[in-house]
Amino acid sequence: MQPPSSRFIYLICCTLLVVWQCRQTSEAPGIQQSPRNSPSSEEKTTAEMDSTSGPNIKANSTFAETQEPEHQTRAMLFFEPHPDGNTFACAHCHAESAQADAGLLRAGHHLGNAALRPSFKNGQLHQLREAVNSCRVEWMAATAYAADTPDWLQLKSLLEDFAQTQQDTEPLTFEIVPPPPAEVLRSGNPDQGRTLFNRSCAICHGHDGAGNITGPKLQGSKLSAARVAERIRLSGNARSSVYEGLTGGRMPFFSRSRLSDNQLSDIVAFVTQSEPEELRQSNDGQSVDVSVADAQSNCSQTHPNVGKKARLSTLSHQVAGEAEIIDDCTIRISSFHFDGGGIDVRVYGGQAGHYEQGPQLSKDFLGMAFVEGTMEFRLPPGISLDDFDGISIWCVAVQISFGDGLFQ
Ligand code: HEC
Ligand code: HEC
Repeated sequence: MQPPSSRFIYLICCTLLVVWQCRQTSEAPGIQQSPRNSPSSEEKTTAEMDSTSGPNIKANSTFAETQEPEHQTRAMLFFEPHPDGNTFACAHCHAESAQADAGLLRAGHHLGNAALRPSFKNGQLHQLREAVNSCRVEWMAATAYAADTPDWLQLKSLLEDFAQTQQDTEPLTFEIVPPPPAEVLRSGNPDQGRTLFNRSCAICHGHDGAGNITGPKLQGSKLSAARVAERIRLSGNARSSVYEGLTGGRMPFFSRSRLSDNQLSDIVAFVTQSEPEELRQSNDGQSVDVSVADAQSNCSQTHPNVGKKARLSTLSHQVAGEAEIIDDCTIRISSFHFDGGGIDVRVYGGQAGHYEQGPQLSKDFLGMAFVEGTMEFRLPPGISLDDFDGISIWCVAVQISFGDGLFQ
């Protein structure tokens, strides 16, 4: 439980920006965060993949961790939806660096060196702000930034920081192509498609297509292969000023350089052929295991904290639920709510309500939404119940808590 003052503050916090300010004011005075070591940017920007958890978008934290607090709102402009737009964030469609681009297969190019590129969108636009505005208006349903809009100046400085370690400034191109013919679509492999789906579509449609706040459920949707393929290749505003030949929709198209026709066919096979009941739902009464790959197992129940519970506060993305320590290495969160909209969200442990330093307790539950669901994890190797007294649903990209609570 939070101390009464901060509980009250949390209640009145509705928007992300306000939430951040609340975190600032609710932090107990006099508690200094221990200084962070600054590992080389190389170490920190390596995006690691593991087959079950999706990519670790760790690179993001280079920008969040090493910045002063006011810059964390800056990171939100890239990693969270905009207050005046829809549920899309830049990061749903763009990686923040070339390295991070190796993880998820996103619809747009990475923006690591975008601030240095001489032109944008196949040479049609010549200013970074025009390119960003075109995405804000056409994809995010927001209004164009003026040259002196404070949020634009913040986002611009973030993109310039992304570009600091980059050299390559060639303009990039993309090609909008029609979906492949039926015989190519028929050759798709649904198992490979599932893996590819979770790298390219789950960020908006939820793990295995279960749906979340950002995109509709695709499991069991009974769409034809041709229709799914058309959405992937040609989705977007049909009257766009920068993209030609799109056939409508909010979802972004994937050009051939982002997904090949063979990859597309695999994804289409997965979306259209898999039986819905084979697909895991996050809220069907079964517990979703979000343990890291090499988590501990078969623990005893000797620790004095076994049985303690923590009620999660609701700070963002509709997080709510109750965590319980089941045994020396297992924690279960029941009645769990989460809209699935964040980027790189994990369970973190913390001491006295501070979660910045971790430890990280779960893998990334990319795109998974929960409604009265149950989520469970076993502690990573080397971590014990002594290492934390509370847990947070932690957004690694922006370094903020979506909801947290202390065990008692
Ligand atoms: C729904 C998906 C989507 C969202 C959200 C989105 N973009 Fe884009 N963006 C695209 C697509 C698709 C392209 C064109 C393909 C490409 O070049 O990456 C693009 C292109 C760009 C380009 C030009 C790249 C180049 O070198 O030509 C920039 C810059 C850019 N986006 C910035 C942003 C920023 C900043 C945000 C957030 C404010 C954003 N985008 C949000 C889909 C999106
Ligand atoms: C940036 C977010 C985003 C990404 C990435 C994305 N989608 Fe979508 N998708 C949406 C949204 C939002 C809709 C609903 C609005 C619309 O139709 O455009 C949608 C709609 C669809 C539909 C139509 C559903 C229906 O019932 O008509 C299909 C099919 C689809 N997406 C497939 C995919 C596949 C396959 C991928 C991966 C290759 C993918 N999407 C990637 C956001 C996304």
